[in-house]
Amino acid sequence: MPKQQRCSTRRRRVLISAELVVLAALHSMNQMIFDDNFAESRMINANAQRSFLAVQHETIPLNRDRGPINAADVESITHVPDTATILVQLKRNRTSCAEPQLIGRLSGIHLSKVKWSYEELTHHDVIVGHYSVPAPGPYFIEIIVTMCQRLDINTDAKNACLTRQKTLLLLGFGTTTFTSLRNHKLQPLHTRYQPQGCRHPKTHMTNRCRIPTNTARFDPYQFQFYNPFNLTQELESKEATVLCYVGASHSGVLMQFSRIILKRMEIQSNNITVLQKDYRYVANLTEDAMVDVKESCDKAVIGIGQWDASRYGGDPTSFVEFRRLLREAMRVFVMPLLDARVDVYFRNMHYQPLGDLITACPPSDWRNPNTVDMYNDITSELCREFGLRFIDSTDITGIMWDRQDDWGHFKDVSGHTEALYLLHHVLSR
Ligand SMILES: *[C@@H]1O[C@H](CO)[C@@H](O)[C@H](O)[C@H]1NC(C)=O
Ligand SMILES: *[C@@H]1O[C@H](CO)[C@@H](O)[C@H](O)[C@H]1NC(C)=O
Ligand SMILES: *[C@@H]1O[C@H](CO)[C@@H](O)[C@H](O)[C@H]1NC(C)=O
Ligand SMILES: *[C@@H]1O[C@H](CO)[C@@H](O)[C@H](O)[C@H]1NC(C)=O
Repeated sequence: MPKQQRCSTRRRRVLISAELVVLAALHSMNQMIFDDNFAESRMINANAQRSFLAVQHETIPLNRDRGPINAADVESITHVPDTATILVQLKRNRTSCAEPQLIGRLSGIHLSKVKWSYEELTHHDVIVGHYSVPAPGPYFIEIIVTMCQRLDINTDAKNACLTRQKTLLLLGFGTTTFTSLRNHKLQPLHTRYQPQGCRHPKTHMTNRCRIPTNTARFDPYQFQFYNPFNLTQELESKEATVLCYVGASHSGVLMQFSRIILKRMEIQSNNITVLQKDYRYVANLTEDAMVDVKESCDKAVIGIGQWDASRYGGDPTSFVEFRRLLREAMRVFVMPLLDARVDVYFRNMHYQPLGDLITACPPSDWRNPNTVDMYNDITSELCREFGLRFIDSTDITGIMWDRQDDWGHFKDVSGHTEALYLLHHVLSR
C-alpha cells in the first residue's frame, strides 16, 4: 500500500462566509485524473500516473464553519483520483440536512463542474461526484450545499429555501467547451454570491459586499471548444435564413451577440437575419404567438422559464403547472410551427447567481440552481416526449453559472460563446 501522500503543495483551507451556505472544503488536489476523451494528455506524463497511485484516496478537509450541514454529520469527503470521483460520505444518524444538494467546482488550469449522483444516498448515505478535466495538474475544489432536500415535480417551489431545504444539476459535463486559464497563476475560484444588504450601490465598496460579488475572479479563464468549428465556412452560401430567439431578455442578449458575431463575419453572413420574439411566460406561447413566429422565422430557438420562476409575476409557476403549460405550448405553438416547416429548438434556461433575493428565506425570486434544473428537466423531458431538439448549453453557461454582472444575464464572454455555439448548432444544418 503506497504511503498516503496528501498533496503537500498549496493545501489551503478557506473559510467562506456562512451566508453562502457552504459545505465545504476548498482544497488543492494534485494530479487529477483525466477523461478518456483525452488520450493525448494521458500519454504525457508517466510520473503523473505514478502519483495518482500515491494519492489514491485523498481526504478533502471539511469547512467546520456553521453551515447548512453540521460538519459532525459528514463522515468524510474523499477524492479518488483513479476514478475521478469525489465521495461525500454522510453519517447515517445525521440530524442536519437530510439530502444535501451539492454544487462542486474544480478550479486550476481548467475549470470543471462536478456531476453528482444521489442514487446511493438513501441506502449508503453517500453522494458520488464525477469530474472530468482536460489535463492533469493541481486543482482546487469547492463544494457548496444549496438545499437540504431534493426537489421533485410536486415540491412547492415557492417555499423551497436555499440551504434550508431542498435538487441539483445533472447537465453539462465537458462535452461542449472547457475553460482554461490564460496565465499560470493558480487561484481557487470561489463561488460568487451577493450577501444580504449588498443591493444598494452605497454598500458596493464595502469589503463585505465587494469581495463575494466581484466578477474579476472569472477573468483569467477563456473558453475553448472541444471540437472547434469554423462558422464562416459553415455559413458559406447558406440560403437566406431568419433565426428567431423566442423568449424574454436572455433571448435578447443572445440576439445581440449573434448579430455581433455574424456582423464580424461580414459577407458570409449577409443572408442570415436574427430576431427576437419577446414572449415571457410559458403561458404566452399561444396560437397567436405561433402565427407571429410562423410569419417571420425560419428557425426558432425557444428559451423560457426566467419569468415563470421570477418574482415579477408574483408566485412562481409551480413545476406541475409549468409542465402542464409547456405541454399545452407544444400542442398549440410548437407542433403547428413544425407543420409549417419552421425549424424549432428549445434551449435550457440559464442559471442565476446567488443574488440576495434568491438566497433569502422565504425567497422572493425562485431562480435558484435547483429550481432552474427542475424547469430544464421538465423542458428536456417534454422535448423527448414530443421528439423535439433540446440544446443544452450548460457546458458553457453552467461552468461559470455565478458570473453574471447584473445577477441575471450573461452579457460577457459566456453569453458570446453560447451565441456562437447556438449559431453553429442551429445554422450549420
Ligand atoms: C451518530 O453516531 C455516532 C457514532 O456512530 C456518534 O458519535 C454521534 O454522536 C451520533 N450523532 C447523533 C446526532 O446521534
Ligand atoms: C474559416 O473559413 C473561412 C472560409 O472558408 C476561411 O477564410 C478562414 O480562414 C477559416 N478560419 C479559420 C480560423 O480556419
Ligand atoms: C444567399 O442565399 C441565396 C439563396 O437563397 C444564395 O444563392 C446565395 O449564394 C447566398 N448568398 C451568400 C452570400 O451566401
Ligand atoms: C403572458 O402570460 C402571463 C402569465 O400567464 C399573463 O399574465 C400575461 O397576460 C400574458 N401576456 C400576454 C401578452 O399574453
